[in-house]
Amino acid sequence: MKSESGVGARIHVVRFAPAKLNLTLAVVGSRGDGYHSLHSIMVPLSLGDALTLSPLRPGSNRDTLRITGLATPATPANLVLRAIAAARDAVEATWPGAPAVPPRLAARLAKRIPVAAGLGGGSSDAAAAIDGALAAWGASLDHERRAELAAALGSDVPFFLVGGAALVTGRGELVQPLPETQGEPPVVLLVTPRLAVSTAAAFEAYASGARHARPALALDISERLTAQIKAGLTTSALLERIGELALANDLMPAAVSIVPGMQGFVTALEKTIGRPVCQSGSGPTLWSLYPSLAEARKAVRFVRLAAVNGTLPLVGAGEPFVAAATIEGRPMPPTVQLTDGPTGTIRPRTVHNWRADQHGPDEPAREPTESKGDESR
Ligand code: C5P
Repeated sequence: MKSESGVGARIHVVRFAPAKLNLTLAVVGSRGDGYHSLHSIMVPLSLGDALTLSPLRPGSNRDTLRITGLATPATPANLVLRAIAAARDAVEATWPGAPAVPPRLAARLAKRIPVAAGLGGGSSDAAAAIDGALAAWGASLDHERRAELAAALGSDVPFFLVGGAALVTGRGELVQPLPETQGEPPVVLLVTPRLAVSTAAAFEAYASGARHARPALALDISERLTAQIKAGLTTSALLERIGELALANDLMPAAVSIVPGMQGFVTALEKTIGRPVCQSGSGPTLWSLYPSLAEARKAVRFVRLAAVNGTLPLVGAGEPFVAAATIEGRPMPPTVQLTDGPTGTIRPRTVHNWRADQHGPDEPAREPTESKGDESR
């Protein structure tokens, strides 16, 4: 593969795949196609996975995926592999190397976002894989085809493909960028009980009646907040709305109904941190807002201590994942790394916005890429 560093150099495409938070998540109605219409303000976080894609030698007959960090299945059902396969099908006839098939890719995923947690980790990895695979092949797809690919992989994927804060409607495919809040970026405390919540199960519980007492409230809060953000909301004004945000996720009663012990956990967490607690997506991740990283980190320590001393009852398999992260308003800049050629030494060309100090404190900060290009054979 040719690159700007010369013939034979290997290309390593690196993508940061941020977690998302639903500031609001109103279920507007059932669509009759197995999905629900949503009105949700979604924001990317500084917590995220890192995906590296490297073309394999001609003759390789399958894409590979190696995962480090948090436990995640690397089966063909993994969204990274499905996203690469879907992107290959979409560009097969038009990419620069046609009629040859776009090369197989070796994917390495440094996983830091808890899985099936309401933080969109798998969807973000999928969006990063679409974008990264196209870059690795020198291929392009128009905006519409990319959006279609993304929506076919999952309802949250289009949000990540667009990047940045957004109002998300439809079943997730309509993504309208929103401005970031004015002032310092808001900081969020994330507390994820160690168990998986299936999105489908949460929507089923919602459909069966696990709902807030005031059904229109979440939509009302979501619409008002959208208008306020568009008009230029300050970070401190957003922080003042935490009480409302705690009522603005229509899937929270659903998660509470399907996770044994969840209501007690929410109540104990609110008591521990002295703030209202909100839910992201279909859960089980709970969150609250803080004006600074220092205060959020203090809360991280408090919550950990409460989990150890039993003030916070354990839900799922052991102590929760607890982390502080900032809300990122703007899309992450893409990065590409190029090797020198046969020796396989990677030289980063772009310093991406990986912030070691903002990861889950129980996940040691590591370089998202490795020092050898040995998978790109
Ligand atoms: O699109 P995704 O694979 O994330 O959706 C998983 C399941 O969650 C869907 O099969 C559907 O049951 C439910 N869902 C929904 N309405 C949405 C998104 C997801 O009912 N907007």
